Amino acid sequence: MTKRPTVLALAATAILSLGPGFGLVRAALGTVAAAGPQSAPAAAPGAAELAAELAANLASLRAQFARPTSIPYPGAMPPTPEQVALGARLFHDPRLSANGEFSCASCHDPELAFTDGVTRGMGIAKALLPRHTPTLWNLAWNETLFWDGRAPSLEAQAQGPMENPKEMGQAIGAGVAKLRADPAMLAAFAAAFPDRPDVSPTHVLTALADYERTLVSPPTRFDAFIAGDDTALTPSERNGFALFTGRGRCSTCHSGWAFTDRAFHDIGLPTDDKGRGTVIGLPAVNYAFKTPTLRELSWTAPYMHDGSLASLEDVVSHYNHGGVDRPSRSPDLPVNLALTGQEVSDLVAFLETLSSARPPKPDAGLGFSGVPVAVAAPVTVSQVTQKNKAFSPTSVRVTTGETLRIVNDDTRPHNVRVFDPRLEFNSGLQEPGETATITFGSSGTFEVFCGIHPSMKLSVTVE
Ligand code: HEC
Ligand code: HEC
Repeated sequence: MTKRPTVLALAATAILSLGPGFGLVRAALGTVAAAGPQSAPAAAPGAAELAAELAANLASLRAQFARPTSIPYPGAMPPTPEQVALGARLFHDPRLSANGEFSCASCHDPELAFTDGVTRGMGIAKALLPRHTPTLWNLAWNETLFWDGRAPSLEAQAQGPMENPKEMGQAIGAGVAKLRADPAMLAAFAAAFPDRPDVSPTHVLTALADYERTLVSPPTRFDAFIAGDDTALTPSERNGFALFTGRGRCSTCHSGWAFTDRAFHDIGLPTDDKGRGTVIGLPAVNYAFKTPTLRELSWTAPYMHDGSLASLEDVVSHYNHGGVDRPSRSPDLPVNLALTGQEVSDLVAFLETLSSARPPKPDAGLGFSGVPVAVAAPVTVSQVTQKNKAFSPTSVRVTTGETLRIVNDDTRPHNVRVFDPRLEFNSGLQEPGETATITFGSSGTFEVFCGIHPSMKLSVTVE
């Protein structure tokens, strides 16, 4: 197979292509010193404290929110440009639906940051779907897909909407048969999969997933600020960032450059949908949904898994009041946030800096790192900890028959799991302070993860 030996720099160039208002904002603000709280005309009470807090934490925040330099991919070889191009064509191809009218893009419209602009969309059956259509930006880093994380990969996810009678309503095999009758498609599949040039369900799913992995939202004014330009954000936006990472506790869950921990939380929305709780059978995570990316939010309203909040003001107001108090509500949510009107505006202003001036186009210039995610060298220990949603260490060595202790020294519950034909393990709900023990009876490498925070991964080498 022809493969591209690329290492791609995602960040640098696009920072220069910001929206038209950008230069004006910068010119108006001048340097940080000049734009400090003293020069902001109607500085609200607390604004000076927020500015000072941001200044004190800036270096650490710049490290935490820095953009990645490459896109990860599963498997040994990165997707080729031909595979990505085929995936883009298939994404827009209505032949993958029963009536020839629905493509993936019917609901995931690139002009609306791959959403559909409605509370809940409709597919071929003209019936409302149970949940709001999520954006497809920045999914390459996800361990699980869908609001409740029920799909384990982009490849596995893509078959769902095709075969769902409410969405595209057609067995993938029937779609494949239609594509096979088209000489242009035969050529595109041959270019994408030269070793085995067949139009197969697997190739359809692989190409769609490869295309979706390239959907990385471009840098915005926020990234210019993170890259070191102090004047790229207004004082109000900077105060919003200070609230987001400070008193608002937003970044506890909306962490990192894509503003998501890719984990599941109940944020107290009034809903009957049990979300992650149903998928992993744990009532403690009822009403919990995957933290969405906050990139390109300006184009993705309405918000939340049920599309129940119409605007960013509504979202911030929800967090300000804390929502429905029930046992599953996340301990990571701020209690009695009591934001002032000015602070609500600051937070909304900050959230808006995460969007491009226009709905961004997928950029075929982006690519993949040449090196799949590396696993750290294993450490010989008999106990692992789980603080701050991370196993420590992340790679361990034990001997056959030995018991590994996994200690929850975190402030939140976890759910330790191993899905392996040689060893099935499910700790059930593991509250803070509780220890899960796993005995490894056979040699080999095992992957341990958390069912609530799937980015937590532990590799166990049994010798
Ligand atoms: C009829 C509208 C509709 C169509 C057509 C559709 N989707 Fe979706 N898509 C949705 C909805 C609604 C969800 C959320 C469902 C859930 O989480 O339970 C979703 C979720 C997803 C997700 C998960 C995103 C995340 O954050 O985890 C991906 C990926 C996705 N769709 C890709 C596709 C692809 C690829 C196609 C075409 C094969 C497609 N969709 C067709 C409506 C649609
Ligand atoms: C406990 C984790 C957690 C905290 C803390 C948190 N969020 Fe969220 N956020 C989520 C989850 C989970 C969702 C999706 C919830 C759903 O749909 O049921 C979400 C959804 C959102 C959305 C809607 C995005 C979309 O595409 O629909 C916005 C905007 C948002 N949060 C902003 C914030 C802000 C601002 C704060 C701080 C005031 C904050 N979040 C604090 C976990 C969290």
